[in-house]
Amino acid sequence: MARITAGVCTSHVPAIGAAIDLGRTAEPYWQPVFRGYEFSKQWIARNRPDVVFLVYNDHASAFSLEMIPTFAIGCAESFAPADEGWGPRPVPTVQGHPELAWHIAQSVILDEFDLTIINRMDVDHGLTVPLSLMFGQPAAWPCRVIPFAVNVVQYPPPTGHRCYQLGKAIRRAIESFDEDLNVQVWGTGGMSHQLQGPRAGLINQPFDRAFLDRMTSDPEGLAKIPHIEYVREAGSEGIELVMWLIMRGALDADAREVYRFYHVPASNTAVGHLILENVR
Ligand code: DHB
Ligand code: FE
Repeated sequence: MARITAGVCTSHVPAIGAAIDLGRTAEPYWQPVFRGYEFSKQWIARNRPDVVFLVYNDHASAFSLEMIPTFAIGCAESFAPADEGWGPRPVPTVQGHPELAWHIAQSVILDEFDLTIINRMDVDHGLTVPLSLMFGQPAAWPCRVIPFAVNVVQYPPPTGHRCYQLGKAIRRAIESFDEDLNVQVWGTGGMSHQLQGPRAGLINQPFDRAFLDRMTSDPEGLAKIPHIEYVREAGSEGIELVMWLIMRGALDADAREVYRFYHVPASNTAVGHLILENVR
């Protein structure tokens, strides 16, 4: 049977992708950011997943205001890097896992969570920057990836509680797939940031640090934070953090924190990163 062994959360700042692609990771501004992922690269080399179920949000690259799925699962064979205005990032094409993705779609939809099935989609920095942070710059990504896009761009996004419950349904789906696969669930985006309006540049370190703590100590309580609190405390784009709760719901209640990194700032945001392992 497929099993979920670990979860990873990380911010997905587009400027981090540019720093990697332009060879600037050793510059004084960026060096502390990338140093924070050294442990993670070694950890994932030792804990190589067969498949990453990668929760992220599309930033008006694949979708637009014409069509806004709340939850969209990528069922295609492959997903090309999106052109976000500067040409596609020079990173490998993502290889999907259509059999597992279709199985998850069937299981989760029959478990009463509506998903949009996507058979063609380019993937933007929300998905490719976390892959670069964890795997560096390989010629091909070392595992299959199932993209799972969540609407956090156009109001109303799903609640944290719904995301947490959805994570549990995704776990039931993965664990009922009849093939021996090591699966990791990643949640991306966050932490506190606001890219627009009078509060642009907002970063709230106490909120972020408490969020990181509660990912292991109090996920049920964390899942009850309402939208208004994300916006007030973490800024308009801080709502991306609900995606971390899909990852959290998919792991054991007593999952163990094996790594944490927090750094301010990178571009306009606080960079937060956690690795959690299922104990059993
Ligand atoms: C930034 C962060 C994001 O999560 C994003 O999607 C776009 C920009 C930033 O900090 O610049
Ligand atoms: Fe984002």
